[in-house]
Amino acid sequence: MQLSTEYSHIFITSEIEKSLLKIITDLNPGKIFFLVDENSRQYCLPVLNNTDIIKDIEIIEIESGEKNKSINTVTFVWEQLSKRGADRSSLLINFGGGIVCDLGGFAASTFKRGISFINIPTTLLSQVDASVGGKTGINFLELKNEIGVFNHPRYILINSIFLKTLDNENVLSGWAEMLKNSLIYSRADWDNLKGYKIQNINYKSLNELISRSITIKNYFVEKDPTEKGIRKALNFGHTFGHAFESLFMNTTNEILHGTAVAHGIVCELYLSNKKCLFPDDEFNDSVNYFINIYGKLKIDGSDFGKIYELITHDKKNEGKDINITLLRDFGDVEINKKCTRNEIIEVLNWYRELS
Ligand SMILES: NC(=O)c1ccc[n+]([C@@H]2O[C@H](COP(=O)([O-])OP(=O)(O)OC[C@H]3O[C@@H](n4cnc5c(N)ncnc54)[C@H](O)[C@@H]3O)[C@@H](O)[C@H]2O)c1
Ligand SMILES: [Zn+2]
Repeated sequence: MQLSTEYSHIFITSEIEKSLLKIITDLNPGKIFFLVDENSRQYCLPVLNNTDIIKDIEIIEIESGEKNKSINTVTFVWEQLSKRGADRSSLLINFGGGIVCDLGGFAASTFKRGISFINIPTTLLSQVDASVGGKTGINFLELKNEIGVFNHPRYILINSIFLKTLDNENVLSGWAEMLKNSLIYSRADWDNLKGYKIQNINYKSLNELISRSITIKNYFVEKDPTEKGIRKALNFGHTFGHAFESLFMNTTNEILHGTAVAHGIVCELYLSNKKCLFPDDEFNDSVNYFINIYGKLKIDGSDFGKIYELITHDKKNEGKDINITLLRDFGDVEINKKCTRNEIIEVLNWYRELS
């Protein structure tokens, strides 16, 4: 499958080596560098080992983990490129999860005022989320994605086969973003994902679902590139989701971004039902689906004030109002829906009592 967005060509294929060879022949770059972390090097690089390309490439390995999405790591990558003779004609292939793709995209965009790069995302989250939109960057002064540039990879190559070695938690984190895309787009897409057995993956059909999810994300991005309006649909689940993510950050209960979003979706479905008349049956059915797969977060009354505070700091708010993206129905989005403190607390009380 091939999707072309305004800026990049995306190939979703079970024959990734073939596509990579063709792309490299077309681009005809100078030296080729692969950016990996220790996991993508160990688990994913062998999948490409049959290709001739692998013989002549330079590998740059960085350490996995959000704390390494830093300026020090970028400096290391620049240094490696420089010392190993990269020039303007070189190509950087980012081969790993969202961190490798974000950081590598930034390093490539700034090295010698920019060299070409390709992304081969190897986690579900990076395949469905980071592949469209052109955001690259790093964390700085403890702030996520504080430094970065918009720049698009020339190509993105996706194969769900890489997910075979990914742990269940990371698979479910990416799956949550796919579920969100389906909810904001159509009942048919939601039904399709609901019927898929994510605990027992069929990789060929997952490639098709990934392709569909990217198409949906791209639909919203291209309609509203600067997020003034309908692109906010993609934030569904993220107001509560970000608050949950922050609440547990640096604790022993830390949760992945997508997992936090899954719980955020449950809360925002409740508000959708109460404030936008999202239908009762669909509400019960979808909440049950999420609870079945993701379980429930342990929160109690003493967390509510902190969660509310975190929600008030959300970037999507204007002035004092809390703005949330809600749903009137599958694929029927209402953006900038105002919410009060009482409503937020009501949701949290309801969520806490869910069984
Ligand atoms: N640019 C964007 O639009 C965008 C969108 C969403 C998220 N992000 C960023 O992406 C990052 C999160 O991405 P992520 O969830 O992919 O995290 P990640 O890159 O940390 O990968 C998760 C873990 O899986 C390992 N891994 C990667 N591929 C593997 C494989 N095939 N088998 C086994 N292990 C593997 C990694 O080494 C890491 O330990 C965040 O920094 C976030 O800010 C960016
Ligand atoms: Zn997200």
